[in-house]
Order: sequence, then structure tokens, then C-alpha cells
Amino acid sequence: MSQEPENYSSTPAVCPYSGATLPRQSVSNFEASETTTVASKIIAPPADANIFYDPLTFADYDHPYDVYRQLRDSAPVYFSPRLGVWVLSRYEDVQAAFKNHEQMISSKGNDIDGTHDSYGKGNLVAQDPPRHTALRQAVRRVFALREILSKEDGLREVARELIRDMKSKDSVDFASDFALPFAFSASTSLVGLPKKDIPFLLEHLVRSMERSVGELGVPEDAAVSNEEAEVYIQEVVDQRLAEIAEGDDINRSDVITQVVAASEKGKVDADEIVGLTHLIYSASIDAPSALLTNIMYVFDKFPNMVKFLRETPSMIPQFVEEVLRYETPGQNVSRQTTEEVTFQGITIPADSRVMLLQGSANRDERVFENPDIFDITRDFTKASKIISFGDGIHACMGAPLARLMAKVAVEELIAQGDEIRIVGFPQRWAKQLVRGFSFQPIKFYPAN
Ligand code: HEM
Repeated sequence: MSQEPENYSSTPAVCPYSGATLPRQSVSNFEASETTTVASKIIAPPADANIFYDPLTFADYDHPYDVYRQLRDSAPVYFSPRLGVWVLSRYEDVQAAFKNHEQMISSKGNDIDGTHDSYGKGNLVAQDPPRHTALRQAVRRVFALREILSKEDGLREVARELIRDMKSKDSVDFASDFALPFAFSASTSLVGLPKKDIPFLLEHLVRSMERSVGELGVPEDAAVSNEEAEVYIQEVVDQRLAEIAEGDDINRSDVITQVVAASEKGKVDADEIVGLTHLIYSASIDAPSALLTNIMYVFDKFPNMVKFLRETPSMIPQFVEEVLRYETPGQNVSRQTTEEVTFQGITIPADSRVMLLQGSANRDERVFENPDIFDITRDFTKASKIISFGDGIHACMGAPLARLMAKVAVEELIAQGDEIRIVGFPQRWAKQLVRGFSFQPIKFYPAN
């Protein structure tokens, strides 16, 4: 009697896809049978073959994290051949660059594609001291913690109304039915824009976020849409100026009133008003709405977490912080060097564009243990705080509002008691800087 090989399957194998019976064969050879294309001889590729970072490649929209890890480990000071920009990926270097506003300036733009070029002079985020200091000071009161916390009840009411509306619809897109209108509602009251204009502003935002995956630059319509927004903001500012001239309250804490008041005192130039307002308006929409969709993504990925949060709501702020780390809504910003700057022993020349990868820094294993694991028990200390809101003189002014919006949204969404699932295929924003979804179909299922 012939002896069968030790690992020979005694029953015929069945193809898991077609259900067809496959010829009996050695189990160990199954994967590498003669029908596969596995190389007969392994030839090692050059060491840098899978280190290629270009934020515009589809792979990076899809899943940037393995490339980030390769950069951190093997090329922490990387030069992107396609874009001609330097890239910093380790937490230590990203944070140092944020803090080095003298050698790494913002006034040549803080992104790689000139998104903010049309914002005009008052664009705070693309200014260096001393103008930056003056502009930031002009809107400081808008962001005072007391002012922000006083918005909680209003935000909650809006969240409840949007959830009610979503639940009454057959088909729900969380991005356009919740994340964007929620962010617009918060933004218009913060900035002092009329709520009735939200549909116009929404249309403008969607156009201005348009980009082509794989291609650098702002498409013409996106640039036109930014210019239209500036014209619109100028009209609202002029109207507010007229109201104030007629004796209306100059002490309101919204951005437009505060900027107009600062301009009356000579602290903000007349031609800086619109750019400053536009920057705050757009900063208060794109990243916060991306964060909300990332929360929904995490809800869908870890449904047991939703149950846990419902039973343990005190952990919601910690959950929000971990989403901000795990799926960083603003993946990168850029700076321009004024002189040579050295990181990890590598010198970046003067006049170079440098990208700071916050999305990678937030996954740096040198700072965060098991960074690819979603873990809401992390201890975010001074040395391991998330870098999602930047650092140094340009650190995000809206961080407390973004955290509050996210907390309220999570509380209200989980209070429903329903299971929420992503049902359908979501779409990401094509603007490389923003990681979040422009379309995210969901369904509410009554919990058993
Ligand atoms: C999840 C939400 C948000 C994220 C991830 C985020 C991220 C950031 C980052 C990374 C910066 C620094 C940019 C740089 O250094 O070049 C920044 C700046 C800024 N953000 Fe945010 N932001 C968020 C929400 C908001 C909100 C809600 C507002 C306003 C209500 C806001 C207003 C600003 C402003 C005014 C600056 C400019 C600060 C300066 O240049 O001095 N942000 N943000």
C-alpha cells in the first residue's frame, strides 16, 4: 500500500469562492501550486523600493500608515522627488518644527498646494510675527474657554435635531446630513455669519474642497469658489460695519464683530479683515466635520466601543482624543525654511518646503505604545499629547470647540440606543490635507 505524504488532505479541497471540488493535493503546496505566480527565485528589491511618500497618491488617501512607519524608521527626513518637498514624520521632529517659527516660517503658505493663497493678507495661519501676533490677539476673545463652553447647550439642540432628521429619512449620508450642517451651525454663530446663508456656504465649501487625487494644485473652480467666499464675507463685514455705525453692539464675541472692533482701534488693517475671517470660517468647518466622520468610522469599526461609551460616558472625552490621534483629521501642514535646519543629522537647505506629518507623528511608536491599536486608555501626558492641533505659536485656536463639538455629537449619537452602521461605500475628501469623508452612508438599527 502506497504511503501518502504526512500532510496530504484526506478529503478533496473545495474552492472557497466557487464551491468547486479541487484536485487532491498536498496542503502545504496548495498556496504555491503551479497556477500561482510566486517567483521561482526571490530577488530582493533595492532598499528604498517601498519607501515612496507622495501625499497625492491614491495609496496615501487609502491607507497612509504603513508608508508613515517606513518613513519614520528608515527615512525620517525624506525628500519627495515628485513634489520637491522635504518630509518630517517622527513626533520629535514634527513637534520641533512646529516650535521653530523663526527658521521654519508660515508666510510662504502652510500647505503644499497653495490652498490658502487666495485668502488675502489677514490669513493668520500663513503669517509670521509680528503680524501673526497682532491678528491672533485680535480674535483671542472669540476663543476664550468660557465663550466656547457656553455654546454646549446650543450645539446639543442642533445635534438632536439633525439626528431626528436623519432617523426620519430612508437614506442617510452622515457627512452631509450631520457632520457638515453641525459644523456649519457652530461656525456661523462663532464667526457671525447669517444662518440663512448655510446652503450657499455649504455649496461653496464642497466646491473649494475639490481636488484631483494624483495631481498637485487647486482646480480652477475650487479657487473661484474661494474668491466668491471672500466677496460674500466682505458683504457681511460691510453690513456689520453699517450696523455698528448705527449704534449696534460692538461687544458681541463673534469673529466679525471682534475683527471689526480691532480694526477700528487700528490693530487690524482694513485689508486684513476678510482674510482673517475667511481663515477662521474655513478652519471651523473642514477639519471638525472630518473629525465627526472619523468618529463614525471608528463607531462602525469597533461597535462594542459604542456600547462601552453608552455605559461609561465619562470616557467620551478620552475616546474623542484617541480618534483625533488614530485618524488625524489634518494629516499635515507645511513650512518654509529661512536657513539650513538639521533633523536627525540631515540638513535641509534654506528656502525649502517642509511637510510636517502630524498623521505620522500621532502614530510614532517612539511616543505611543502600540500606535496602530485604538486604545482609549492611553495616558496623554505632556510628552505624549496628540499633535493633531499643531504646536507653538500657530497651535489651533479652535481645539476646545472641536473637542466640545465631538463630545456633544458622540453623546447624542450614542444616546439613541440604536446600532449605527456604515452601509454602502463611503468616499473620502480629495483634499490631501484633510482625512475624513465627504460621503458616508449610514443606517440606524434598533438595538435588540
Ligand atoms: C478637529 C478639528 C481641527 C483640527 C484637526 C485643527 C487643526 C489645526 C492645526 C494643525 C493648526 C495649525 C496650523 C499650522 O500650524 O500651520 C490649526 C490652526 C488653526 N485653527 Fe484649527 N483645527 C481644528 C478645528 C478648528 C476650529 C473648530 C477652529 C475655529 C473655530 C479652528 C481655528 C484655527 C485657527 C484660527 C488656526 C490658526 C492659528 C494660528 O495660525 O495662530 N480650528 N488648526
